[in-house]
Amino acid sequence: MILGICGSGRKEGNTGGLIEEVLKATGGESELIWLIDINPGYSTGCMRCVVEGNCWQQDGMTTMLYKKMLDAEAIVLGSPCYYGEVSGLMKSMMDRSIALGYMGIGKESENPMHGRKPLAGKPGAVVGAVAGHGIEHTLEVMEKFLGYSEMKVVGKLGAIAGMDDVREKPEFMEQARQLGLKIKEALKGK
Ligand SMILES: Cc1cc2nc3c(=O)[nH]c(=O)nc-3n(C[C@H](O)[C@H](O)[C@H](O)COP(=O)(O)O)c2cc1C
Repeated sequence: MILGICGSGRKEGNTGGLIEEVLKATGGESELIWLIDINPGYSTGCMRCVVEGNCWQQDGMTTMLYKKMLDAEAIVLGSPCYYGEVSGLMKSMMDRSIALGYMGIGKESENPMHGRKPLAGKPGAVVGAVAGHGIEHTLEVMEKFLGYSEMKVVGKLGAIAGMDDVREKPEFMEQARQLGLKIKEALKGK
């Protein structure tokens, strides 16, 4: 399953439209999770996950999204550009994902300070939508997250949509399809 994670709250919006096109072009089974629906909350920075092997907060991240991320063959992250950055929803999801590296390690671990990289090697891609300026840093933040997780970044797409619907901009929709094909290629033989 190829997992899309959308950090926009606008279900008819541009980021979702791009992710949907990427997922469709992979030709594989896919699922798009809207972070607005699961409310990723906030990392409190307590680092209890390091010693306890999971996040103490029981919510949509811990009970659902962690498992989907671990099970996914590939992950597509998408965020609108907000003030030159990722959206708060996307940032919260990335922050909360720190616990993924410690899941199942807990007190039994000989070296609990070392987080594992359970997403390592999975293909990943990032997409973003912006009215005018600031998409580069938005993409870079999501790429850094994939890099920290040691995922294999196969490509990125930033769509400058103005105040329009990106679905009506063929150049960006084509780039989304190309990104989907890159993921399909990266999954060949896996
Ligand atoms: C809080 C907020 C901050 C934004 N900041 C920027 C910005 O820094 N630069 C820009 O060009 N557009 C900015 N925008 C516009 C969005 O990036 C743009 O409308 C984008 O297409 C929205 O994506 P969506 O349809 O997936 O929600 C901002 C919009 C909001 C709501």
